[in-house]
Amino acid sequence: MVAAIGEPGNDQVISMLLEDAEATNALGVALAQTRPARGVVYLHGDLGAGKSTLARALLRALGVTGAIRSPTYTLVERYPLAAEGEAWHLDLYRIGNGGELEFLGLDSDEATLWLVEWPERGGGFLPAADLRVDLEVAGQGRHANVTAVTETGRAWLARLPAVNTRAVAADS
Ligand SMILES: Nc1ncnc2c1ncn2[C@@H]1O[C@H](COP(=O)(O)OP(=O)(O)OP(=O)(O)O)[C@@H](O)[C@H]1O
Ligand SMILES: [Mg+2]
Repeated sequence: MVAAIGEPGNDQVISMLLEDAEATNALGVALAQTRPARGVVYLHGDLGAGKSTLARALLRALGVTGAIRSPTYTLVERYPLAAEGEAWHLDLYRIGNGGELEFLGLDSDEATLWLVEWPERGGGFLPAADLRVDLEVAGQGRHANVTAVTETGRAWLARLPAVNTRAVAADS
């Protein structure tokens, strides 16, 4: 993995090349291992960019053992966590408008982690992101920008490089 840390504007960004799906998995594991008590992650990227791959690896690393279904039709899948609360995985690709989220009762305190694919379709009905991950196809792999947009996100991002380096080193 090639990573660089930059600071455009007030946001902090880590850019990396994820050479294969295993590298995307490693980023998911690293995000899980460094997560805050409550966190919201927006996953941006075209169809097939690797958003679900990242979400699935993150959920597995948090101890989710059963099936991890794509929430494309249900909009949200909820996973009770061993630690505390629930991880909520959303995919808003097929949502008509953000107002549909109101019927899902998403204002619950139970969610300690939000992973949201296609968050731009959620209108103003989602909690604000702490971290924003932008994925795009780059050759055979993917380019990823992980951007911190809150203090919680900045602290999360600061914990990431060390863990991620270990994850990659352990796999190679
Ligand atoms: N870093 C990577 N390099 C190469 N292939 C990858 C990488 N990360 C994920 N993939 C592959 O990309 C494919 C699509 O991934 P995924 O389903 O996660 O995309 P998505 O962004 O969730 O798409 P959608 O918007 O349709 O839900 C999968 O086959 C996955 O293995
Ligand atoms: Mg997906």
